[in-house]
Amino acid sequence: MLGYNVCFAVGLICVIHCGYSPLKIDIDRELPVFSHEELSQYNGKDTEKPVYLAVKGVVFDVSEGRRFYGPGGNYHMMAGKDVSRAMATQELMDQDMTHDVAGLSDDQLQSLDNMFTKLYLTKYKKVGYMQYLLEENGKTEL
Ligand code: HEM
Repeated sequence: MLGYNVCFAVGLICVIHCGYSPLKIDIDRELPVFSHEELSQYNGKDTEKPVYLAVKGVVFDVSEGRRFYGPGGNYHMMAGKDVSRAMATQELMDQDMTHDVAGLSDDQLQSLDNMFTKLYLTKYKKVGYMQYLLEENGKTEL
């Protein structure tokens, strides 16, 4: 009973104080690494190529959603880019089409993680990683 109370108290304190804890990205060494320039080649304009976008430095093949991300789709501005900031802010302005999430609130970062897990990881295939993700981890190659 005492143990249960202690666990409950620690849990409660954590919920109140711990706030956002970033989702850890597991890197699969089999997959290729993309620069922003390379990723931009997969913006859906060339119908021979798949459509890619990245979230949190992970590149997804979103060809199945070509109607959203291809030319004329409501979310075409996201294709060929790392759109982490847009997923966090839920805004579709040009300045949100970037991997840079500096200055965002815990709630926004949590909503980015939710989009990453519940939409992209669930629906689309991972096809690579952004170079910046490796650099943040102090590496230059896989
Ligand atoms: C008034 C605001 C919005 C409405 C009514 C809306 C509505 C929708 C609907 C109905 C779909 C599904 C379309 C389908 O299945 O055919 C969709 C998909 C999507 N929405 Fe929105 N949306 C809105 C704003 C936004 C914003 C602000 C963002 C991001 C910053 C966003 C990101 C997306 C994305 C990425 C998809 C495609 C999901 C996928 O790949 O399956 N939406 N939206």
